[in-house]
Amino acid sequence: MSTTCIVTGGAGFIGSNFLHMLAELRPDWRVVNLDALTYAGNLENLEALAGRPGYSFVHGDITKGEDVERAFASAKGSERTLLVHFAAESHVDRSIQSGLPFVLTNVAGTQVLLDAARKHGTQRFVHVSTDEVYGSLGASGFFTEDTPLQPNSPYSASKTGSDLLVRAAHHTHGMDCVITRCSNNYGPYQFPEKFLPLMIANASADKSIPVYGDGQQVRDWLYVRDHCEAILAALEKGKSGEVYNIGGNNEMKNLDLVKQVLGALGKPESLITYVKDRPGHDRRYAIDASKIRSELGWSPRFTFAQALPLTIRWYQSQGPWLQRVTSGAYREYYARQYGG
Ligand code: NAD
Ligand code: DAU
Repeated sequence: MSTTCIVTGGAGFIGSNFLHMLAELRPDWRVVNLDALTYAGNLENLEALAGRPGYSFVHGDITKGEDVERAFASAKGSERTLLVHFAAESHVDRSIQSGLPFVLTNVAGTQVLLDAARKHGTQRFVHVSTDEVYGSLGASGFFTEDTPLQPNSPYSASKTGSDLLVRAAHHTHGMDCVITRCSNNYGPYQFPEKFLPLMIANASADKSIPVYGDGQQVRDWLYVRDHCEAILAALEKGKSGEVYNIGGNNEMKNLDLVKQVLGALGKPESLITYVKDRPGHDRRYAIDASKIRSELGWSPRFTFAQALPLTIRWYQSQGPWLQRVTSGAYREYYARQYGG
């Protein structure tokens, strides 16, 4: 069956990795990438796909109905149209500085997409969400798909809003929707405002690494390729109306992560600098991914020991990419966030 997959946010970190994976694993699919190219979107991430038959880019904003219509127009002609929704404002610290862009893109933008997908009879809508919708855990336990939604940041509250709109579209209109909720990703093309690329970039330049609070917060790190494969499994095999948690059983305290990265780079721990904590900082995330493992047969292929060196090597070989994405606007954000 001929297939077109509309991907929103394909010029960002996970979206671009997903598009590279589709080119490799589903080479016969047509792919339409709808992206507004915010500070986090970068067509350089997709240079290898430009000009590839079946791939098209639509420069547009998911909050604007006419832009979304252009993406659906490009998708016309296949027997089935699928949609994978990555586009979002994604950085917690930015949502603390200013929440409104998060509500506009993450909440309103998702509803605009749902309306268009329903109008055009899209066969499946996969909404890429986050474990942050569940809030924070104590020292033990895991998030399951039944954990109550208790978001704590403007970012996670806006993602929760979008999850609920997707749930409502399924329940009210019978739309075929699947929601995925993943833990922290790392890998190529991640914007260096996020902790892992930030520490690789800073340490490589012998700059200090800002650790929030006591550095004892726990995150569950998953290699981005594993996340992308899980989303493909949800797209092709997930049950309509279901939520699937995605995680790698790889919990780590932030401070231990920094020490590992410094060790791998041969840099001293004296680069660690404790800074003011993130307001409302969630203490611990940990995912129970047994549902997607048992029902869809997905499991991560990369261990942290394998994928951290791959990631570090990728950033080390991408000097010009890093320089370009850390342009003037990013430097202003960095000064606002960390001072100086
Ligand atoms: P990102 O910030 O790197 O990329 C977001 C992309 O969306 C960019 O290309 C940007 O240009 C685009 N975009 C933003 N606003 C838009 C708009 N209004 N219209 C069209 N495009 C717009 O984000 P990411 O880290 O790749 O995350 C992708 C998705 O995965 C998000 O929905 C995020 O909530 C979710 N997620 C991320 C992680 C993670 O660890 N990064 C983990 C779980 C879930
Ligand atoms: O859990 C999934 C989420 O992971 C995604 O939904 C988000 O889009 C993604 O950004 C990520 O959110 P986090 O807030 O966990 O990621 P971040 O890289 O910003 O921070 C990771 C941890 O490191 C967190 O506990 C805050 C801490 N941190 C972060 C930065 C940027 C620091 O200590 N210092 C820093 O400078």
